[in-house]
Amino acid sequence: MSAPDVAEKLTSLAKRRGFVFPSSEIYGGAGATWDFGPLGVELKNNVKRAWWRDMVQLREDIVGLDGAILMHPKVWEASGHVENFTDPLVECGNCRKRYRLDELPDGERLTEAWRAKTLDLASTACPNCGQKKLSEPRRFNLMFKTFVGPVEDTASVAWLRPETAQSIFVDFENVQQSSRKRIPFGIAQIGKAFRNEITPGNFIFRSREFEQMEMQYFTRPEDAPRVFEEWKARRREWHASLGIPAERLRFRDHAADERAHYAAAATDIQFEFPFGWQEMEGIHNRTDYDLRRHSEFSGKDLSYRDDVTNEKFIPYVVETSVGADRATYAFLCAAYDEEPDKEGVRVVLRLHRALAPYKVAVLPLSKNERLTPLAREVWAAVRPHAMSTYDETQAIGRRYRRQDEIGTPLCVTVDFDSLEDRAVTIRDRDSMAQVRVPIAELVPALQERLGA
Ligand code: GAP
Repeated sequence: MSAPDVAEKLTSLAKRRGFVFPSSEIYGGAGATWDFGPLGVELKNNVKRAWWRDMVQLREDIVGLDGAILMHPKVWEASGHVENFTDPLVECGNCRKRYRLDELPDGERLTEAWRAKTLDLASTACPNCGQKKLSEPRRFNLMFKTFVGPVEDTASVAWLRPETAQSIFVDFENVQQSSRKRIPFGIAQIGKAFRNEITPGNFIFRSREFEQMEMQYFTRPEDAPRVFEEWKARRREWHASLGIPAERLRFRDHAADERAHYAAAATDIQFEFPFGWQEMEGIHNRTDYDLRRHSEFSGKDLSYRDDVTNEKFIPYVVETSVGADRATYAFLCAAYDEEPDKEGVRVVLRLHRALAPYKVAVLPLSKNERLTPLAREVWAAVRPHAMSTYDETQAIGRRYRRQDEIGTPLCVTVDFDSLEDRAVTIRDRDSMAQVRVPIAELVPALQERLGA
């Protein structure tokens, strides 16, 4: 099975089984925005829950925040996004197709030449029409602009946030004082972000509306390089702990001339997607850039005073930032598997049990009026303890395959013997091993297997 095949098969499975649909599909789609269907919302919520648990609930030094999407427009001037959050955009004079410079063939070299102000595109052909009529790159700001209130003038401009991080900086003092945290400590947030990407694509990998899971860790300036290394390791471990094979994860350090305007050091955690190695998460040493700029632009001093030493300083920030949609896609790619079986091919999503949309499927052996009441009774007993589903249509083998394909780790089968012995069979997705357990002991038996 080739890698591009996996991408294609996943896109089709995602639609067919209710993970992800193109947004506004009946109108022809809305341009790189996606809707998460019944299974997709469970999966993405599980990804977010796993992140929140690891980054907030299990830590004594990190607290959460849920900031507003619409913020004062000065926030984006202070943050540097109005001036710097741009991509170089090239347009073909013949077919009018637009590209990000780095997407053209040999894009890395072209981008380097552009940064060095030595770029010449005269001999570069448009990948679409083949004509050598590409324009000089112009800077294109990726933020979506809107207006607050009824008047569309410069005084009412608002931006849809392109990252969640800024409300963490703007609320730094409120959070620090209300939670009485002392440096070092972190603030974590999950929320929507919007970017008017020139060339979105690769399914949910790059879209115009997505969710970020970001954490800003406030440190003493001298500690930031060490903290940066610690977070790199910890975040890579998190992805691996949820089922991404170690050999499909790697770091890519950014050179000085490619870092975001706020970063003194930056590393991507890359995942080997079916279309190649790509950024899944960014770790940045943002220095005191953001707090200093917000102090300057708002007139509010965001320095921190150590109440023991009485020192006053602007903290440095180490940021971890991962897309919830992009990570969800990576988990799907890593989980997708096919193996030969007597009916042809068994498709299995080997999702980590913490991420699987359904943990348990309850299946009567057949749709039979004697089995249904007991099977539904079993499902009712399981439901409060594990996200579960029930399926009684078609042959049992087919139904196992349907659950394998959406990653359900455990199936519980109610058969005719169950009516006599009050026992059911638990079937494991990965090994397909089956074990018989009394209904009275089913819930703890499932919990043990699910690690709940
Ligand atoms: N606050 C830092 C920041 O936003 P970034 O590297 O631009 O840094 C962080 O974005 C993460 O957000 C990326 O690693 C990716 O997972 C996700 N992300 C960024 N742009 C995205 C897009 N257009 N679609 C989906 N996810 C995106």
